[in-house]
Amino acid sequence: MKNSILKQVRQYKSVFIAAPVLMILGGLLETMIPLMTAHIVDDGISQSNMAEVMRWGGYMLFFAVSALVCALFGYVASAKASSGLAANLREEMFKRIQSFSFADLDRYGVPSLVTRQTTDVTNIQTAVQTILTQFFKTPVAIVYSLLLTMQLNMSLSYVLMAGVALIGVFLSLIIIRSIRMYRQVYNDYDSMNDRVQENVTGIRVVKSFAAEEAESKKFDDAAGIVRHGFVRVERLLAFNNPVMMMALEFCFIGIAWIGAHQISAGSMTTGDLTGFIAYAFQIMSYMAMLVLSFVQLASSFASIRRVSEVLEDEPAIADPKEPVREMKDGSVEFSHVCFRYGEGEGKNVLEDIDLSIRSGEMIGVVGATGSSKTSLINLISRLYDVNKGSVKVGGSDVREYDADTLTGEIAVVLQKNVLFSGTIADNLRWGKPDASLQEMEEACRMACADAFIAEKEGGYEAAVEQGGANLSGGQRQRLCLARALIRKPRILILDDALSALDTATESKIRRALKEDMPEMTKLIITQRVGSVREADRIIVLDKGRVAGFDGHEGLMQSCEIYRELCSAAEG
Ligand SMILES: Nc1ncnc2c1ncn2[C@@H]1O[C@H](COP(=O)(O)OP(=O)(O)O)[C@@H](O)[C@H]1O
Ligand SMILES: [Mg+2]
Repeated sequence: MKNSILKQVRQYKSVFIAAPVLMILGGLLETMIPLMTAHIVDDGISQSNMAEVMRWGGYMLFFAVSALVCALFGYVASAKASSGLAANLREEMFKRIQSFSFADLDRYGVPSLVTRQTTDVTNIQTAVQTILTQFFKTPVAIVYSLLLTMQLNMSLSYVLMAGVALIGVFLSLIIIRSIRMYRQVYNDYDSMNDRVQENVTGIRVVKSFAAEEAESKKFDDAAGIVRHGFVRVERLLAFNNPVMMMALEFCFIGIAWIGAHQISAGSMTTGDLTGFIAYAFQIMSYMAMLVLSFVQLASSFASIRRVSEVLEDEPAIADPKEPVREMKDGSVEFSHVCFRYGEGEGKNVLEDIDLSIRSGEMIGVVGATGSSKTSLINLISRLYDVNKGSVKVGGSDVREYDADTLTGEIAVVLQKNVLFSGTIADNLRWGKPDASLQEMEEACRMACADAFIAEKEGGYEAAVEQGGANLSGGQRQRLCLARALIRKPRILILDDALSALDTATESKIRRALKEDMPEMTKLIITQRVGSVREADRIIVLDKGRVAGFDGHEGLMQSCEIYRELCSAAEG
């Protein structure tokens, strides 16, 4: 098991140790029982001595009950240990994921992170439960049983050992092969999961494009591969039982044959033979358990890998050693910035960007879809790191800032922002946990959200459903804007964030921002070129390059692309 996973045992160390210890103890007590059987037969039944039967029967009961009690507590301890570990793993992964940068999230994909936190952790929990209860106990019990059989009868014990060794070798071969197969199956299982996740997350799109059939076909293919893999492994594992049974039969025949000879020669008692056969049974059942736990462990390998991958991940964006904790002003400066997504390959989505934005300016950002507007502003709040050049905010490189300072001073509102279930006030307090009612009202006034909130029953205490489902697109956008404004950030970035509003409301909001927050730098990405006409300056992006950066009049004179965008908007 991986270190990163074992580390999460933490406060459950004691039950983690107690469980196998109790199980081993129970196993040792259990292995004494056939010995009692031998005594009952020889000293009691054969001699018709009822007192001896009672005596050894009493011992037997004692051992059986103690073994049972040990096993019971062993199971309880292992349940505590494995569910505790699972809880810790989930908690730790959750913490990790919170610290992930956008680049990290791109790499995993959100659905995969969900599976890792749920199914994979459950798999590990089951495997740990089996390991704690069976993995340590069974080998010890097998060896101890064999030692006890040697006491009963040496030569018979050799027969049994030979049988056990033979079965052991055969089962190991099967296990090794099945582990390899399991690895493959779980890889296929992974890709099937990805298919399901992609499809279910995008189900609305799939439906609206009537692509259900094609998607179903893709899923069927993936599911078929998984089914095939599982059948292959199960077929292999199906060998286990007949092999065990056959070996057992041979062992019994051998034992009975030699035993009968010895009994008639007077060198062995019937009781010993009875005990012996009971041991043979017990050992075989232990071996079956051991095999089962191996298989279970094998089937959890993929989950272990997937969980430890998240736990061991170093965030792509590391904090600086001596971070800057104060932003001097809201100026933004790009110098020779190149940026591309992913590691290494791929072409730049931003090419040699040079921009200087003064604190307090209102800047429009326009350009066709895919011209890298979003990519550009993502670099300001350091959702991604540049590949070349530097982005400075308030005079310091964004990479030198403390992460909280950066996120605290730069507020980004996306076109599709998320609201959480709770009240309107709860959602606003995401922006500032200790916001007063007055602050909320002020922010909502600027965001033109005051009117619709007043109409809601309960006002600021009105409920918001998960994702803001009970609000209209425009209401959601205004609430998200208010949530960003309540913090009074130095830089406000609106990424197509007012698209669901009518132009009149939009310009009212822009005016409010300009007049009420003159210190705050405002970057407004928009599809509607007309709506940023009166911005101080406008950045025109074209295929990841700056095609123009000037006021409206200046751009009309100098920038061909801007003229095209304007005429396209009018026409
Ligand atoms: N997370 C991402 N991973 C890989 N490529 C991306 C990602 N986001 C955007 N891109 C690519 O970067 C380019 C610019 O996208 P974007 O900045 O979103 O443009 P805009 O906001 O102007 O529409 C596009 O070619 C897009 O395919
Ligand atoms: Mg965009």
